[in-house]
Amino acid sequence: MSEPIPREARAYYDKGREAERLFGGHGVIELARTQEIILRHLSPPPGTVLDVGGGSGVYACWLASLGYRVHLIDAMPLHVEQAEAASARQPEAPLASCRLGDARRLDEPDASAEAVLLLGPLYHLTERADRIQALREAVRVLKPGGLLVAAAVGRFASLLDGIVDNLLADPDYAAIVARDLRDGQHRNATERNYFTTAFFHLPRELEDEVREAGFERVEILGLEGPGWMLADLEARWADPARRRHILDAARAIEREPTLMGLHAHILAVGRKPT
Ligand SMILES: C[S@@+](CC[C@H](N)C(=O)[O-])C[C@H]1O[C@@H](n2cnc3c(N)ncnc32)[C@H](O)[C@@H]1O
Repeated sequence: MSEPIPREARAYYDKGREAERLFGGHGVIELARTQEIILRHLSPPPGTVLDVGGGSGVYACWLASLGYRVHLIDAMPLHVEQAEAASARQPEAPLASCRLGDARRLDEPDASAEAVLLLGPLYHLTERADRIQALREAVRVLKPGGLLVAAAVGRFASLLDGIVDNLLADPDYAAIVARDLRDGQHRNATERNYFTTAFFHLPRELEDEVREAGFERVEILGLEGPGWMLADLEARWADPARRRHILDAARAIEREPTLMGLHAHILAVGRKPT
């Protein structure tokens, strides 16, 4: 089996930027909408949640503070350390555990969790067979009827970013986008902050993978809506009324197939068969 995370992705995350990502730029929409969709589907606490690829623990600590027993598993030692530190900052609701691991081979027992979050591994596992393996592990550890929430980066995310931020003016960036559009394989050989090795899904690819792994009642939801492309997002987000417009717009088109490529991320929600 290959490494849980490609070497260059490890170097990218070792720069330490991940802990802040969801609190600035369009990460704020991603965070708010992911939380909204998780709460829409998750049974009330208590319950066991595995946050696989949980990064620095933003979602895991939030769910622990709501009363869930949350185990965080991640391939990056730095992220596991950051998640442990975040958990220690909320002694009244710490994480149940934090450990290094691979989404394709979990240590958890069969049928032990109410929910599995896969908010990261599916885009860093660039081979379809590895993504199916990670999804099958999620099926295995879930209780019957258990919930999966899995994130993918949308196939057109780098193209849209390239227009919004004029990154397409850089021929290296344009070449990265050309490959993303061709086969979804995102590779960044530059030192510039153009993300790292990943696979960018079409919505139907994500849906097929989640169904093939054994999930049912699968829904594919667009996450950010058009707001993530706003040049003045920070100012609009700071104003409650305008923030509501951004979130309402995302919600209004979250299931619209003709606009699915406009979101930076898409989520798959599914259930283990009962
Ligand atoms: C962009 S971060 C997302 C972190 C967090 N889930 C979030 O949504 O903010 C992607 C995370 O997936 C983790 N990851 C990637 N491949 C993985 C694998 N095969 N097993 C476990 N974690 C993995 C990375 O180490 C990283 O922490």
